[in-house]
Amino acid sequence: MAVFKYYKAENNIDKFGAGVCKINCGGDKSVTHRALMFAAMAEGESSISNPSRSLDCLASVSALERLGVKCVFKAGANELLVASGGFKSLAAPRGIIDCANSGTTARLLMGLAAAAEGASVFMTGDASLIRRPMGRVAAPFEAMGARIILSSENTLPAAVSGRKLRGIEFDNIYNSAQVKAALILAAFGASGKTLIRERIPTRDHSELMAEKFGLELKRTAVRGGGVRIAARGPQKAVPARIAVPNDPSSAAFFIALDALFQVVYGRRLKIKAESVLINDSRNGFFECLFDSGFDMIYSACSDAMVEKSCDLEVNFGGYAPPAPQVIDSPARVVSMIDEIPLAALALSFAPGESYIGGLSELRVKETDRLAAIASQLNKMGAKIKAGEDSLTICGVKKLKGAAVDSCGDHRMAMTLIIAGILSGSDFSVSGCECVAVSNPSFFDDLKRLGFVFHIA
Ligand code: S3P
Repeated sequence: MAVFKYYKAENNIDKFGAGVCKINCGGDKSVTHRALMFAAMAEGESSISNPSRSLDCLASVSALERLGVKCVFKAGANELLVASGGFKSLAAPRGIIDCANSGTTARLLMGLAAAAEGASVFMTGDASLIRRPMGRVAAPFEAMGARIILSSENTLPAAVSGRKLRGIEFDNIYNSAQVKAALILAAFGASGKTLIRERIPTRDHSELMAEKFGLELKRTAVRGGGVRIAARGPQKAVPARIAVPNDPSSAAFFIALDALFQVVYGRRLKIKAESVLINDSRNGFFECLFDSGFDMIYSACSDAMVEKSCDLEVNFGGYAPPAPQVIDSPARVVSMIDEIPLAALALSFAPGESYIGGLSELRVKETDRLAAIASQLNKMGAKIKAGEDSLTICGVKKLKGAAVDSCGDHRMAMTLIIAGILSGSDFSVSGCECVAVSNPSFFDDLKRLGFVFHIA
């Protein structure tokens, strides 16, 4: 297990922020997973430029290769070529598919496999993934006619028998974008209409991507909130060229670091995160920073990629501490679902009490994130109380250095490293290797900013 070690004596705060530092966080993980899965449905060669090189997306690449899809990183180019024979060719997988730490791989792949008539796919994952709930995604495929055997706990390993599916109506009650995405993939292989109802709309990358692969679906806003997504199958996907904007969930760590660096040290790091995906369904954390008093600057906005992108910076906040927040609307929580650990850190610097509610899903992420946030950040001097599905955060003036643990969760590891830097003291984070699950360039970017640290 790798330990991240940081010593105050090696990091003279006065040297930081001399000039603007551009950060390229790499292609968005959610969008890359979807581009891969849609490309696997299409007959012919698709191209994904600026794909995420996260371990999670590499798990999707290996999974698809086992299903007979040819994936090649083009030499000297930031491009991945994906050649498939379409749905029918996915029916003869080689061996057991290891989804590693990636919930998105496991759930989306289940959708593809369920709709690949005649396929027998065996899936498993690492110690964290095999504890995560899979019944929520298996149930709709069984209702469509597939056969899925899970463990007695409704978790991986799974055996999926692909069948001729028929469309169903489905309420996405867990507000899970992964479940919705899996169902959209399967809907295009099924016959008849599949209707998905979302009371709280989740990230809509699959809906936007479907169109690029020549697939039709209809989205209708529901009066009083929510959305209905209807797709009629079977439909044939055609190969596409997808350019992936950079990952806002990875950029968020650097934007938060810059914002809070101002609060703690009274100076800016001047970080500019380049070509970041801008999508309302993912924007919650940046909105939270804005509501707390930081101006977000969006520049060089472009529609050249599969979704909108902008360069992103946090403006000078006047060195004032963030304003405390109450975040309890499910739509807001869904739009910052992966940034809750970081939001808990940011709000730890807000004088008074902040509250984030409706967080039951965090109990079943890569680790129990509510427990991990409270136990690890509190070791660093934060005052966070984890309720059954909420966090109550009491602002503190200063954090302190400590030896903390990532709990094997990439987003916890990065949150704790940012917290440690803001503590201005020596600290260590054990189990830091998991950072590559979503952001393999995280350590290089910290180095480029001028931070000195050791990984042993
Ligand atoms: C994701 C959806 C979210 C998110 C995960 C990526 C996706 O999970 O937490 O990191 O790509 O669809 P849920 O669908 O479980 O909320």
